[in-house]
Amino acid sequence: MNLKEKINKQKLPQHIAIIMDGNGRWAKKQGFLRAVGHEKGTVAVRETVEICAETGVKNLTLFAFSTENWNRPKLEVKTLMKLLVSSLKKEIKTLMDNNIQLKAIGCLDNLPSKAKKELEEVIEKTSNNNLMTLTLALSYGSREELLSVIKRISEKVSAQEIETSEINEDFVQQHLYTHDLPDVDLLIRTSGERRISNFLLWQIAYAELYFTDILWPDFRKEDLLEAILNYQNRERRFGKTSEQIN
Ligand code: IPE
Ligand code: IPE
Ligand code: MG
Repeated sequence: MNLKEKINKQKLPQHIAIIMDGNGRWAKKQGFLRAVGHEKGTVAVRETVEICAETGVKNLTLFAFSTENWNRPKLEVKTLMKLLVSSLKKEIKTLMDNNIQLKAIGCLDNLPSKAKKELEEVIEKTSNNNLMTLTLALSYGSREELLSVIKRISEKVSAQEIETSEINEDFVQQHLYTHDLPDVDLLIRTSGERRISNFLLWQIAYAELYFTDILWPDFRKEDLLEAILNYQNRERRFGKTSEQIN
């Protein structure tokens, strides 16, 4: 039986989030500039999106650029932004052919105007697609997201639009960038690093974490299937006992 057949369609993660890491190290290993690693990383993005659509995963969120990544050398940032524009232009067809809706989370106003414009265009063009939602985290940082939530909620309290007693988990969730996405079920990080790096801190509260040593440009369909299978073999207890679950 191949990997795909082993997947239990009744137990699919509703939302997979991926910290796509290791492009630089991949390039260095091959003796290339870091930019080549980023370029090759787009192949892994395409494979991942396709296999999610094929298996029936409804929500995929990819960490493409963090608020902290602005501190990288100017040239690398420029390369990444250019790559974003060219990938969006190239992938719009795949998104339309596969009925995939594109969304973006993060401080999008910080993106160069060209990248922002291209992104908005693809978001608009794919807005009626409904097989799967692909969310790109761009200039995204979880602390920035939570801070802006706190500020907006405080303003509502100050303006007496709501009472402090009305602030609950659902209310906070409704103010997140990810307000229309379910919680993350499976968080994958490639490249052997075992950290969260300011990604979706609220949303991964009960996610299953999966770390692999594979560098992002080498990540292929089978690797994602492997991660899903691993996820399906775990017992998610949400605070209960094993006996309560079974
Ligand atoms: C991930 O790969 C891509 C981004 C963070 C934009 P890296 O560029 O972080 O690659 P490493 O970690 O240096 O290998
Ligand atoms: C996290 O990767 C951000 C993205 C994958 C876009 P980094 O490579 O920037 O993370 P750190 O700085 O090593 O934790
Ligand atoms: Mg990295």
